[in-house]
Amino acid sequence: MLDIVFLGMFVIVVAMAVSVFLVRVRRQYLLHRNIQIGLATILAVVVVAFEIDVRFVTDWRSLAAASPYFDSGIVYYSLIIHLVFAIPCPFVWAIVIWRAIKKFPADLQPGEHSREHILWGRIAAILFLLTAATGCTFYWLAFIAS
Ligand code: HEM
Repeated sequence: MLDIVFLGMFVIVVAMAVSVFLVRVRRQYLLHRNIQIGLATILAVVVVAFEIDVRFVTDWRSLAAASPYFDSGIVYYSLIIHLVFAIPCPFVWAIVIWRAIKKFPADLQPGEHSREHILWGRIAAILFLLTAATGCTFYWLAFIAS
């Protein structure tokens, strides 16, 4: 499951970059909306499956014990840094999507909600990138480094 989440992050980072490109450069608002809602739905399913896996199925600590960074605590520190970004991420995403659906007009033309959405959309995107980058760092330190 950790491996799937690791690979999935790359796919989602690329899809998000495409979605922001589509709205910034091509003004493809509908496509941007659909990609973002699709990504959020996939992320919600993955996060729930991942939490069930690491809490009840896979003992990640015993898998990570072989890492040269485990005994010094570096693996744990990297996990804490990752969680600083990962925990608020779904809440910020949910609020950005909820408010975009409520506040943009049905034809999705830019308007009064644009300023707030561009600011928080960028924050949500950066938060996700930092979640992905720190998650990859934790994954490498815990399971790949030898
Ligand atoms: C977490 C999900 C989302 C993120 C991270 C996100 C991110 C962004 C970003 C970064 C921009 C600004 C691009 C730029 O000019 O720099 C943007 C623009 C826009 N987004 Fe989203 N978005 C999300 C969800 C949505 C949803 C659900 C809708 C529609 C219901 C939507 C509609 C729009 C529109 C209409 C614009 C253009 C605003 C304007 O140029 O005035 N977005 N989004």
